[in-house]
Amino acid sequence: MPNQDALAGSLPRHVAIVMDGNGRWAQKRWLPRVAGHKQGVEALRRVVKACLEREIPVLTVFAFSSENWNRPVEEVSSLMDLLVLALSREVPSLEGNGVRLHFPGDRHGLSKRVVQGLVAAERDTAHNHKLVLNVCFNYGGRWDIAQAARKLAAQGLEITEESLNGQLALAHVPDPDLLIRTGGELRISNFLLWQAAYTELVFTECLWPDFGPADLDRALQEYANRERRFGQTAEQVGQAEPLLAVGGDRHA
Ligand code: IPE
Ligand code: IPE
Ligand code: MG
Repeated sequence: MPNQDALAGSLPRHVAIVMDGNGRWAQKRWLPRVAGHKQGVEALRRVVKACLEREIPVLTVFAFSSENWNRPVEEVSSLMDLLVLALSREVPSLEGNGVRLHFPGDRHGLSKRVVQGLVAAERDTAHNHKLVLNVCFNYGGRWDIAQAARKLAAQGLEITEESLNGQLALAHVPDPDLLIRTGGELRISNFLLWQAAYTELVFTECLWPDFGPADLDRALQEYANRERRFGQTAEQVGQAEPLLAVGGDRHA
């Protein structure tokens, strides 16, 4: 492993990844796009292992967006099949390695078979504490904010930053410190719109199936070199006072 001492103390608590570039990885090899998605599952396995080794407590990945329904139906159905297959293959070892799974996203529109797989994987890993792995599936940042607001409205509750935050699909974890997007595109594509307000962004040309521990370490190093200011001045940040947390009790 690379120089972990250099990263100590500045490791993110929560890493988020837009796992992009599977299709291009496959097309470069004259393979069907689904071959890229299959290799994408292998890349995710490597990155989960690397996060466990580095003691990163939360990893959130974007696996299927609200807008990915607009893809050809064969690709959508092969992504659904791949999810079900990956769950049956991977959950036992994730469970054994201390990983707790969550699947933030809209369950409406997913087949019974897929929903059953997600519910079972969440249930079977619910006792784990080493790494929270959020696999965002049928997820969109706009969907998340709207569904959270609807829940508050249905209960007649006041809408504040704190109350809305508490109803979001990622209310169980702190906001991401670092967001990595593979595949070279410089956009968010409706991922974590609310939660990424102060997240450090790292973009890499590396296609997701090629992404591995060394690429993760490069992103962690880049993160360690950033100065997070949360609206303060650099001088304030240089002083010993702890930074104000975004979304926390700022006015207390
Ligand atoms: C990301 O890879 C996986 C999903 C969106 C499901 P893509 O399938 O978007 O790969 P590219 O961007 O076409 O290469
Ligand atoms: C974002 O990738 C969604 C996932 C990685 C699941 P896309 O490939 O769908 O994003 P766009 O369409 O290029 O913005
Ligand atoms: Mg893409």
